[in-house]
Amino acid sequence: MKKAVVIGWPISHSLSPRLHGFWLDKLGIEGSYEALPVEPENLGDFANKLKSGELGLMGANVTVPHKQEIMAFCDEISPLAKRIGAVNTLVVRDGKLQGSNTDHYGFKTNLEASGKLPETPSGAAIVLGAGGASRAVCTALEELGYSPIYLLNRTVERAEEVANDLGGSIIAGPLSDLSKYMTECQILVNSTSLGMKGQNPLDIDLSDLPKDAVVTDIVYNPLITGVLAQAKSRGNPIVDGIGMLLFQAIPGFESWFDPSEKPVVTEELRQHMLEVL
Ligand code: ATR
Repeated sequence: MKKAVVIGWPISHSLSPRLHGFWLDKLGIEGSYEALPVEPENLGDFANKLKSGELGLMGANVTVPHKQEIMAFCDEISPLAKRIGAVNTLVVRDGKLQGSNTDHYGFKTNLEASGKLPETPSGAAIVLGAGGASRAVCTALEELGYSPIYLLNRTVERAEEVANDLGGSIIAGPLSDLSKYMTECQILVNSTSLGMKGQNPLDIDLSDLPKDAVVTDIVYNPLITGVLAQAKSRGNPIVDGIGMLLFQAIPGFESWFDPSEKPVVTEELRQHMLEVL
């Protein structure tokens, strides 16, 4: 039986076992995917045991707080994960630990699959928030064709650090610059934690946003965040955040379980996940 896990600390809240479990069932694969708590001081030990085969695992997903630290234990890191500076997917192959980042794929594929993007995306993007997810978001927007990317964050230094690390056409600034760039924006992304259940709302005014600009949120609980509701009410195309979670899981699933059919993101899967939010 092929096995994989998601590691984090804490990890009990993770939706990934439910997600991978759905595909294992659907595709009739005899496999397992579980949440495994790994304390930061045990990360190296886990990586070594994963690599040696002692744990009997094909690989793992990696989440907070291990996404950066795990890189030191990988034998190979994909160029994209190196650029983003974080690994969320581990595959053991020929006794080597391979690290990659599928958040970029998840964010990008969710937007593409939504049917809300223009045929050839172009123009400016605004990304709010410079935390863990923002690097994957910026690199994906860049690949989709958006330029420049205004990366605005409460702590400007953090946005500057991301812009410096990633290079390209990313321009860092404070959240207060939002009004300055709003009229030229073709896609606006919330990558802050604001708007999430239990957090403060993301208090922004979309009045100057072009009506055809896409608005998306990486927050998926609630599914329709305040900013998405505001965008929808003025007629902007919106893309919710649950799809990013679903699509980012595909490359890992394929590597570990080698399914004969591709795992797909369907309305049934979305509903299955939304049931527990
Ligand atoms: P993650 O790694 O999961 O993205 P994070 O690194 O804590 O989480 O990032 C959270 C993001 O939300 C950051 O951009 C953070 O801004 P700071 O870098 O200034 O902390 C942003 N954020 C969180 N609470 C905020 C608030 N009350 N106002 C504005 N931005 C906020």
